[in-house]
Amino acid sequence: MLNLLLLALVGSAAAIPLAEVDRAETNEQLALRYNLPRESIPTHYDVTLYLNPDYTDNFNGSVSIRLTPSFITSQIVLHAMEMTINSISLFSDRDLNVDLFDNFTLATDDTHLLRIYTNQELQTDVFYVLNIDYTGQYADNMFGIYVSTYTNEDGGPS
Ligand SMILES: *[C@@H]1O[C@H](CO)[C@@H](O)[C@H](O)[C@H]1NC(C)=O
Ligand SMILES: *[C@@H]1O[C@H](CO)[C@@H](O)[C@H](O)[C@H]1NC(C)=O
Repeated sequence: MLNLLLLALVGSAAAIPLAEVDRAETNEQLALRYNLPRESIPTHYDVTLYLNPDYTDNFNGSVSIRLTPSFITSQIVLHAMEMTINSISLFSDRDLNVDLFDNFTLATDDTHLLRIYTNQELQTDVFYVLNIDYTGQYADNMFGIYVSTYTNEDGGPS
């Protein structure tokens, strides 16, 4: 049982369909390879990018993901490629003052898994907002800026 999400930020409009298809297949294969069961259901994304045309080494971005867990969990796993995480925060929409984020790990292998650990269990009947600020690398092909994510939970000790 997989929950596969795709968030494509494409600089070149002409490249959108092909880029999305390519990335979807890649993520699906990845998810199957690592057998990731569903953990949370994102319902909304807000993405902000800070691009400096005079500076091509990287760009800054922030993404805000609204999600609700499928079952009680203290982990959110995303697919984060070609990016350095600058900061993460996580709030329940019932209490915007308490940051539920504890720590994260970012895989250095080709799984590109960003594992976010929370300081308390996330409940199924609650909406959460996950904010990630990052520095990204421009894609080195014609498809432009590109971010893709999926979420999962292995449901047991990892
Ligand atoms: C990204 O943010 C860092 C830290 O605030 C800053 O030094 C850098 O210039 C920013 N890059 C761009 C492309 O805006
Ligand atoms: C990360 O957070 C989890 C959950 O609070 C905790 O059990 C674990 O010890 C933390 N890991 C580190 C390296 O701080």
